[in-house]
Amino acid sequence: MTAKIIDGKKVSGIVREEWKVRADRLKKKGILPGLAVIIIGDNPASKLYVNNKIKACHEVGLHSEVHDLPNDISAEALLDLIEKLNELKTINGILVQLPLPDHIDDSKVLGTIKKDKDVDGFHLYNVGALMTGNAVFPPCTPFGVMRMLAYYNVPIAGQHAVIVGRSNIVGKPMAIMLLQEDATVTVCTSKTKDLEKHTANADILVVATGRPAMIKAAHVKPGAVVIDVGINKLESGKLVGDVDFEGVKDVASLITPVPGGVGPMTITMLVANTVIAAERDSGYAPDD
Ligand code: GUN
Repeated sequence: MTAKIIDGKKVSGIVREEWKVRADRLKKKGILPGLAVIIIGDNPASKLYVNNKIKACHEVGLHSEVHDLPNDISAEALLDLIEKLNELKTINGILVQLPLPDHIDDSKVLGTIKKDKDVDGFHLYNVGALMTGNAVFPPCTPFGVMRMLAYYNVPIAGQHAVIVGRSNIVGKPMAIMLLQEDATVTVCTSKTKDLEKHTANADILVVATGRPAMIKAAHVKPGAVVIDVGINKLESGKLVGDVDFEGVKDVASLITPVPGGVGPMTITMLVANTVIAAERDSGYAPDD
């Protein structure tokens, strides 16, 4: 079997258009959705992600602003900035790009973002809302994966979904979202014994480990849907995912490439969450 390749760029373009319609509806009522992105230090990958996020906001016609802070910024100064942005009427969404420098406590920072502006969905309130099936801001990467699966009509209810990686950003929320749609979910970690035994049972396999090409053809059930969330830069400069694309594409039925798979969807769902935040702030429902 040779897998059909999921076109993340195409799907994200289509989904972005849907959210542009919703943003335009707000703009006609005089409301311009606004996103503030805070980036600390000069991690090249973070810089690239933030540039792409801002570009997507421009494309959809949202207001966006970047607060580029030095690596040695104090926690107090960062929290002060967040508090200011929490109060600004022109800003509906606030995102602090992770990872943060070691001297700053992630949970304190994420908990300071007003829950109604938490477009990443990382505030504990929003984590709880997701857990109980009432998510307002689903975390962007798993939100994008769900949208992608829907676009390709991948059945979820009753399917066995296996997630490799248990991060707060991807693995855990991905598990909750798939569970919410009645998948049977297994989450594997770096300590899982006999990983292949689990992954080879997956109808839907989502991999988010940050370990280049660790999932090989032998890990994959013939006909499985394989979603690769990893983006790893090799010494040669080449970008690869966590899945050995060349080997696995001959086993899977559907597979995401890297780049051009999940990445563009993550960014599009950030636009979606910013528009949702503006709709909620302004009191306009999508069809008002
Ligand atoms: N770093 C890697 N992915 C993400 C994300 O989705 N949101 C934030 N804030 N930082 C990230």
